[in-house]
Amino acid sequence: MNQTSDQTTEARPDQRPGLGRYAKDWMSDEQAARYVVSRRPDRYKHYDMEQKLVGKWLTLCAPGATVLDFPCGTGRFSDLTRQCGHRLIRADRSPAMLVQARNHGPNEHVLGNLCCDLAHPPFPDGGVDIMILWRIFHHLRSWDDRRVVLHQAARVAGKYLIMSFYDRACLTWWTQTIAQKCFRTRPKLGGAIRTSDLLDLTSDLGLSPVEIHHYRRFISLNSAACFRTSPRDG
Ligand SMILES: C[S@@+](CC[C@H](N)C(=O)[O-])C[C@H]1O[C@@H](n2cnc3c(N)ncnc32)[C@H](O)[C@@H]1O
Repeated sequence: MNQTSDQTTEARPDQRPGLGRYAKDWMSDEQAARYVVSRRPDRYKHYDMEQKLVGKWLTLCAPGATVLDFPCGTGRFSDLTRQCGHRLIRADRSPAMLVQARNHGPNEHVLGNLCCDLAHPPFPDGGVDIMILWRIFHHLRSWDDRRVVLHQAARVAGKYLIMSFYDRACLTWWTQTIAQKCFRTRPKLGGAIRTSDLLDLTSDLGLSPVEIHHYRRFISLNSAACFRTSPRDG
């Protein structure tokens, strides 16, 4: 890994179909600038809790670990990984989001910024110690797509995978689903899943749960998990 932190590297295009369609809402400079504002600590109500939770899981590895934040968005975990003493690789499909991440920093612990697709992470097996997969899983609309993303994450992460997801076993999901049926509105929560389905898939992929955290169990969709990856030979 020898990309420097002052440039964004475009990974070589891959011929296999990717998951770029999920990035369409974050591709322009305006969308990226708006995202920075929406994730400011004073605007985003889960900010402190998520920093604490992810921070706790990041310290499962000793300082000096390599963390891949993918998709990094505008780099909200850049400072947290620095505080943990880890080295960071930021990756995202949107060059505009990567530019914001680099501009906001910090960057001194950053090994590289890489523009690439979640379906084809250009990293070797076990190439990083920890991968963070934050606030993308609930956007994925099929189990094929979820499997592709988790398969790649389990391949690349040498020790831990930290991720967020939407758990449908809650009041929010039921009220929105009933409202959609009554008012025939567009489904909004198609990416919410059962935690048990996630655990079945992760178990197939050799990921063991360290902790599952529901923000407000049975009320809120927001959930997160930390998994240990299976030990590799050699
Ligand atoms: C909701 S944002 C989350 C960003 C960050 N993890 C956070 O929590 O702030 C979703 C991000 O996923 C990226 N993304 C969407 N589809 C992608 C794909 N197929 N490959 C890589 N990144 C993708 C978008 O560009 C966007 O930056």
